Amino acid sequence: MSSQQPAVRLTGWGRYAPAQILSNADLERMVDTSDEWIVSRTGIRERRVAAAHESTASMGAIAGLRAIKTAGLDVDDIDIIILATLTPDYWMPSTAALVKEAIGNTKAACFDVAAACSGFVYAYATASAYIGAGMAKNVLVIGAELLTRFLDYTDRGTCILFGDGAGAVVLSASGEPTATTGIELTTDPQGAYMIWLPAGGSKAPPSYDTLSRGQHKIRMEGKETYRFATRTLASTGLAAVAKAGWTQDDIDLIIPHQANVRIIEAVAKGLDLPMDKFFVNVDRYGNTSAASVPLALAEAANSGRIKPGDKIVMVAFGAGFTSGAIATEWTADPSRGPVGDAAVRPEDISVRLPVDWDSVDPVPAALAEILARPLPGHLDLSDVVPGEPEHAHQTR
Ligand code: UT7
Repeated sequence: MSSQQPAVRLTGWGRYAPAQILSNADLERMVDTSDEWIVSRTGIRERRVAAAHESTASMGAIAGLRAIKTAGLDVDDIDIIILATLTPDYWMPSTAALVKEAIGNTKAACFDVAAACSGFVYAYATASAYIGAGMAKNVLVIGAELLTRFLDYTDRGTCILFGDGAGAVVLSASGEPTATTGIELTTDPQGAYMIWLPAGGSKAPPSYDTLSRGQHKIRMEGKETYRFATRTLASTGLAAVAKAGWTQDDIDLIIPHQANVRIIEAVAKGLDLPMDKFFVNVDRYGNTSAASVPLALAEAANSGRIKPGDKIVMVAFGAGFTSGAIATEWTADPSRGPVGDAAVRPEDISVRLPVDWDSVDPVPAALAEILARPLPGHLDLSDVVPGEPEHAHQTR
């Protein structure tokens, strides 16, 4: 990097997860599965479900505004909003554009990034490139997903895995000497149809046929995806580490895509790293795709797992097959995270609808009863045992 190029720093982070919980016991009543199978094969105990009034944009706006508050910035300090998702509110406009209005920003250019579960890492890399090129000072990078509306609740191979949520970071230009950052992005189109959502695009536009064939729901070849994940998480992560000029021994914390605790354990074993080098929260959120890494990053920072100077690696994989990793040194004050979270109340954020909009009820029939029941009590962060595999096996 030449001395003229601005350095990139992570200055803010935020998160949001819907209040309603979909437990393994709930899923036992829908499909032929069991809590024992789900916990032992995935580490997942529960996931969050967005309420009818929520959307990818509303969740992304809450997490994004929290990240801006954590960074100590004004909303109009943000020049670009990049939102990674595979579950946008609409095909157009971009969900990032809806977030811009919801948070009250008047300046930012907005666009979405489509790289499935690797989306946040791709968006982070894009933001770094804009700042490094001198084209932006502060970029809001959001990963947000509302997956529970795209699941087939008769397919036990997928419906037990995914949940809803959002996470965000602010990346800022800095004149000061920067922390080293290594970025690695890969795509292997051999995996193109291993995780996919067949209909709704130009290849299979929505029709009665596509609906009746159930082609608007996520499909996945679990075993193939598992094999790809265990290989690629390690190789992509290590490539980013090498680009940062570090060795594996330098890593303080890995924030992996939260898809399955067994994948994370396999990677730890393969790299001969202890599990306490990995942050794990898949037990409480399931797989939230593009939201998974920033949601885990924000929880890791807020629970005291990250301190200034720590060398962290964010690494993801997903449909495409895509994968990506960011190796960077943490420079922000971790105590600001809870301040940012507390500054933004979910009920104060709304995404505008057109006046003549008469929407269908977005709640999947299989989840109607769950979303109608009273909300569970507030979950505080004190029960988080970051990085310990046992965390995934604790009872609530
Ligand atoms: O963001 C990327 C998204 N995707 C992933 O990361 C997914 C990666 N893959 C995985 O995590 C795992 O492959 C799964 C969790 C999806 C499946 O676990 P597995 O250990 O690979 O199970 P399997 O597909 O080999 O199935 C083993 C058995 C089968 O029964 P039989 O044929 O042995 O009698 C399945 O029918 O488990 C059965 N099974 C289930 N049983 C109870 C599959 N799903 C379930 C279920 N409950 N939900």
